Amino acid sequence: MNRIYLDNAATTQLAPEVLEAMLPYMTTYFGNPSSVYSYGRETRLAIENARKTVARILQANPGEIFFTSGGTESDNMAIAASIRDLGCRHIITSPIEHHAVLHAVEHFDHLDTVTSSFVKILPDGHVDLQDLEEQLAARTERCLVSLMHANNEIGNLLDIYATGEICKKYNAIFHSDTVQTIGHYKIDLRRNPVHFATGAGHKFHGPKGVGILYINDNIKVNPVIFGGGQERNMRAGTENLYGIVGFAKALELADMNQEKDRAGIQSLKTYMVEQLQQNIPGVQFNGDYAGKSLYTVLNVAFPKTEKSEMILFNLDMLGICASGGSACSSGADIGSHVIRAINNNPNLVPVRFSFSKYNTKEEIDFVVGKLGELI
Ligand SMILES: Cc1ncc(COP(=O)(O)O)c(C=O)c1O
Repeated sequence: MNRIYLDNAATTQLAPEVLEAMLPYMTTYFGNPSSVYSYGRETRLAIENARKTVARILQANPGEIFFTSGGTESDNMAIAASIRDLGCRHIITSPIEHHAVLHAVEHFDHLDTVTSSFVKILPDGHVDLQDLEEQLAARTERCLVSLMHANNEIGNLLDIYATGEICKKYNAIFHSDTVQTIGHYKIDLRRNPVHFATGAGHKFHGPKGVGILYINDNIKVNPVIFGGGQERNMRAGTENLYGIVGFAKALELADMNQEKDRAGIQSLKTYMVEQLQQNIPGVQFNGDYAGKSLYTVLNVAFPKTEKSEMILFNLDMLGICASGGSACSSGADIGSHVIRAINNNPNLVPVRFSFSKYNTKEEIDFVVGKLGELI
């Protein structure tokens, strides 16, 4: 059975060009980057070149880019450092953040290290920036604002420039989880007033288990993992050499082909919306799907019937991969905290379809046809 993969917000398939770039660093160039002889020098050079590539594409200084194990670690590091090193005593976040942020905030809140509050979410899933400003204006202690650039479940995009400007006005630290946008949008970190941003290679056809944390040069934070002095003392441990090489290669490819890939993927999303509207009575969409939204994500709300409740299971039986919530929570099947926060309509069944450059119109036709039979 041919499978159809429409869960690209969970992870993407490795691009063959990325694998090709990584392979020599699994075989010929295996030296420890901290070794001073030639084996080590050549792998050190590969890491520093990767850092320069990433920095150039994101309009950052190489010294602002730290390689990590992925989005979760980067989000955790940003939040922990804001509390420990930057004096933040209150965190403002949203109820629709990824669990990498929500559970980290909960953890520190339970330790009584900080207090936290949620910003209001509007019915279309956007963050209410006026509420953010009012909350910041009412606080006397220094705040950390942690708001994601794009929501991984409903696709809504935040205006990070406007958000950063509000944070600046109140001397707040601003962390934005950019895991769903790095590699998909031109992100100019020099222009955007953000202190921390995060990325994960596997969201744009790079390898899993490698990510970045961007830390703006204007702030100074202390190490989080202690040991050897890797990542300029910030994160000790022998580097994920081939992961880092793959991350940079994937970002380079994504950046080079962005316009073309984006046009193709956006047209698939628009086409799926039209086909669903024509073929499934009562279908709706969660979030601002036709407005400020990721071109890669479409969150569909199917009318609840006996059949539609089993929809993900039935799609899986047909070889169609989609998800109900984020990948990390889909196993637990407790529903989506994001959908609960925005509409919580018990008569609708949410399914997230997310696209990549490898999807085709024929796949969408097949999936919509099957959905018509299933619902
Ligand atoms: C918005 C967002 N933040 C964080 C993460 C976590 O990234 P990772 O799986 O690389 O740790 C993900 C991916 O699942 C995500 O979509």
